[in-house]
Amino acid sequence: MDELVSLCKRRGFLFQSNDIYGGIKGLYDYGPMGVELKNNLKQSWWQSMVYERDDTEGLDASILSAPVVLKHSGHEDTFTDPLVDCKSCKSRWRADQLMEGSKCPNCKSEDLTDPRPFNLMFKTAIGPVDDGSSFAYLRPETCQQIFTNFKNILDSTSRTVPFGIAQMGKAFRNEITPRNFIFRVREFEQMELEFFVKPGTDDEWHEYWINKRIEWWVNQGIKKENLKKIEVEKNELAHYSKRTVDINYVFPHGEEELEGVANRTDFDLGSHTKNQNDFKITSEVMKNSSSTTKLAVQDLEEKKWYIPYVIEPSAGVDRGVLALLNEAYREENVDKDNKRILLSLKPHLSPIKAAVIPLKKNNEELVNLSKEIKSNLQKLGLGRVVLENSGNIGKNYRRHDEIGTPICLTVDFETLEDKSVTVRDRDTMKQERVAVENLSEYYKKYFN
Ligand code: GAP
Repeated sequence: MDELVSLCKRRGFLFQSNDIYGGIKGLYDYGPMGVELKNNLKQSWWQSMVYERDDTEGLDASILSAPVVLKHSGHEDTFTDPLVDCKSCKSRWRADQLMEGSKCPNCKSEDLTDPRPFNLMFKTAIGPVDDGSSFAYLRPETCQQIFTNFKNILDSTSRTVPFGIAQMGKAFRNEITPRNFIFRVREFEQMELEFFVKPGTDDEWHEYWINKRIEWWVNQGIKKENLKKIEVEKNELAHYSKRTVDINYVFPHGEEELEGVANRTDFDLGSHTKNQNDFKITSEVMKNSSSTTKLAVQDLEEKKWYIPYVIEPSAGVDRGVLALLNEAYREENVDKDNKRILLSLKPHLSPIKAAVIPLKKNNEELVNLSKEIKSNLQKLGLGRVVLENSGNIGKNYRRHDEIGTPICLTVDFETLEDKSVTVRDRDTMKQERVAVENLSEYYKKYFN
């Protein structure tokens, strides 16, 4: 983990948020390389969940959520972790994560309060008057707005069950003890699919999605043996779940959840269909509104309405980034005196697809040709291509190995004569000459 954290800072993948003021625990910023890697991972998920399927639609809903939604979803009442205070040093801990029985991890005191439920949702004021009565929550999971938009999407598309709605985006949880780098943070991203099925077919679809999701992670470059299918114990299931299978990954700090695949039954659509007067609404916002919408579909054969069941594969983007960095990280001996660090990421995930390097800095002919090559490759739209005009080939190769750039193209004096460039492969370090006029084809073939 220490090596990864250091690489991430050194090469601009991740920075502690608010760094110059000492940072805030549980918040991280994605730097120039991190944002590309994260976007590529999300793009790959969207590709497989929306573009490559004929039974899904996409959504990008608001983050600020009406309390009434999170009342009906069960979050206001049950989205809690057990909190204990150390009476001695005043630190706070999650009771279920205390390692040494009931001792404070900070000062080892045994003088702890009894655990009490601590709600993980962040609140913020809505509107110009902050008198505590008009508030919204920052969504703790992305999926609730998928459920509240269920009818909108049905009415605006021609979908029939089974079908799914995919969404990726930020979620917020006021974790008591954020830890392990970007594994457990307070602001993170999720990639969630809610797949609506007819009750009775749910068990089969659940198996389908568990396998599909493992296959996808393997295609992103995670070794199958580092992924574990874990059946969540009945007494540990979330309030909405009939059965959940976690896809665990062997992270640098230990094996933990990367993605959960839950059978949420008709809990959510059912809850949002009920009349809100059945609930005690705590916020003024939407207090007088009530959902009269029937989030149900018609069974045309049996001629009756039913509430679909939901199978939900829910993955963490940040945990995905951490897992992929961990899988890709290698230290190799180049020769007996030199080592190199490389990120052997799959090319579709690499932050930079290719670096174009003129051999001599400020040599107008070499730099202009390099700029032209860079611009032509960039236009192919397969990801970011950079020009490296520092004139230090060795340093550039080392940097691009460390950020996982699959190929480096060097424009040298021979290029001016034979109209070809040297292409160096990140993993094998093998070099070959490729004609400039064939570069686009070579590049497209490489990345497709
Ligand atoms: N809608 C279901 C849901 O939110 P979850 O198991 O609580 O289920 C799904 O979260 C995924 O979101 C987890 O598998 C994990 O990858 C990610 N996740 C949850 N809490 C997180 C946190 N505090 N920091 C980073 N990722 C988190």
